[in-house]
Amino acid sequence: MDNFLWWRDGVIYQIYPRSFMDSNADGIGDLPGIIHQLDYVQSLGVDAIWLSPIYPSPDVDFGYDVSDYCAIDPKFGNMQDFEELLDQAHKRNLRLILDLVLNHTSDQHPWFQESRKSKDNPYRDYYIWKDPKQDGSFPNNWLAIVGGSCWQLDPQTGQYYFHHYFKEQPDLNWRNPAVRKEMLNVFKFWLDKGVDGFRLDVFSAYFKDANFTDNPKKWFGIRPYDRLEHIYDTDRPEMFPLLKEIRALLDRYPQRYAVGETYLPTIEKAAQYCGDDLLHAAFSFEFLECRWRAKSFLKIIKRWEKATAGKCWPNYVLNNHDVIRSASRYGRGENDDRLKVALVMLLTLRGTPFLYDGEEIGLRDIKLKKSEILDPVGHHYWPLYKGRDGCRAPMQWDDSLNAGFSTARPWLPVNPDYGVRNVQAQEKDDRSLLSLYKKMLRIRKEHIALMRGDFEVGTKYPANTLVYFRCTADEQIMVALNFGSRRKQIDLNALCADGCELLLSSHPLTETRLMDGKYLLQGNEAAIFLLKKI
Ligand code: NOJ
Repeated sequence: MDNFLWWRDGVIYQIYPRSFMDSNADGIGDLPGIIHQLDYVQSLGVDAIWLSPIYPSPDVDFGYDVSDYCAIDPKFGNMQDFEELLDQAHKRNLRLILDLVLNHTSDQHPWFQESRKSKDNPYRDYYIWKDPKQDGSFPNNWLAIVGGSCWQLDPQTGQYYFHHYFKEQPDLNWRNPAVRKEMLNVFKFWLDKGVDGFRLDVFSAYFKDANFTDNPKKWFGIRPYDRLEHIYDTDRPEMFPLLKEIRALLDRYPQRYAVGETYLPTIEKAAQYCGDDLLHAAFSFEFLECRWRAKSFLKIIKRWEKATAGKCWPNYVLNNHDVIRSASRYGRGENDDRLKVALVMLLTLRGTPFLYDGEEIGLRDIKLKKSEILDPVGHHYWPLYKGRDGCRAPMQWDDSLNAGFSTARPWLPVNPDYGVRNVQAQEKDDRSLLSLYKKMLRIRKEHIALMRGDFEVGTKYPANTLVYFRCTADEQIMVALNFGSRRKQIDLNALCADGCELLLSSHPLTETRLMDGKYLLQGNEAAIFLLKKI
């Protein structure tokens, strides 16, 4: 296709390296394991891979606590493996995006080890240190999102340091020009290696109010953290000039990309950080919390359309390594019908779709006992919230030992349903979720309207259905999604004067349901029609 722009027209596939494929029998996935499965990734029809962090890390937050930004953690392999992965991915026309965790480091990072030694250490100002108040209490009322205060007293110097997340993840001081320089060098290091883009972890939290003003209190919120208005500890104006500098650096290389993970995201907040001289894209996670109702999804879609109109390109995501999988949120038992509707929606909206490994086979979250929980947030909030281990269980490749993920005991248990739910089984079944993903990705590539076309919502369609159009000057495609379990009739008369073609249906019924200009949409069916092709 002409002018194919990978991050706008393509689909991005997130790999959680610890859980994808283990090549050296230590129970943890690794880079050679990913290389081994690259043909599979290519066979899906996606265009890019985003790797969750692969840098050296003590793993308090499973890789999101980095102790060296320019190296590979030995449990994942070495730099040669990384270069091989990059090369092999590029050979298959797959771009590679790295996760940059630059809001904080691990407390084991040599910068922090130096910083905490003394108040006059040259690295002291790499982090945020504050004196206690006169009565010895915390410098202000800010809290850590993972629970408790964000201030940790370091006895050696009698000062507190700031951490948005765990105390083992001290926040960097982005106001220090030396930190800024170090970080831009991290971008350069990976860009020069040929990496195609970055996912910026909680980028909108890099800057904090210079005066450390108390956050105003709110009346409600489940956790103490939610009972504060986070206006001084995030989304500071200093972020904009920095994003411009990062973008200018990226633009020195061809077709590089940055997607930001907005801290405390909303659609409107995410969109304000994007544009021609800012980020290419930023995440909002409203879909991840959306109820299974056409109306609820539509509301979010309209907000994305409005917030990004004429400004930047939207993106859609139903899963990632931090939330309960969509298969567990929406699937009923082992039935995947709703997931098929969700996948057609994700891959036909106007915006870059992000998939999370395992989503394509409908992986469900694993259930763990308290003693099995590894994620520290799970420990902290148990039993109210059980943490994020559930969605991070190993990929299910086949029905052999440990689902073909590893010959050793995996770091997290494999979902016991792997005997029936696995890649190998779904590849053989042309009605499986995986087969539908592949088919849908193929159709998406064949129709420019699905990648780049305008988006228009259909009106006057039956309750709990979502009908929309993707159009270019030459092509008009209609997508009809039934979120309910009852059949619905979709009237195509006015649209099909020149005939229409059913491009895809997620339903196994083979008999024709397109009669007299009407289509009988089954319960939880997704259907795509080509209305006109000049
Ligand atoms: C967001 C990441 O997605 C999450 O896994 C991590 O715990 C936090 N940022 C802190 O880096």
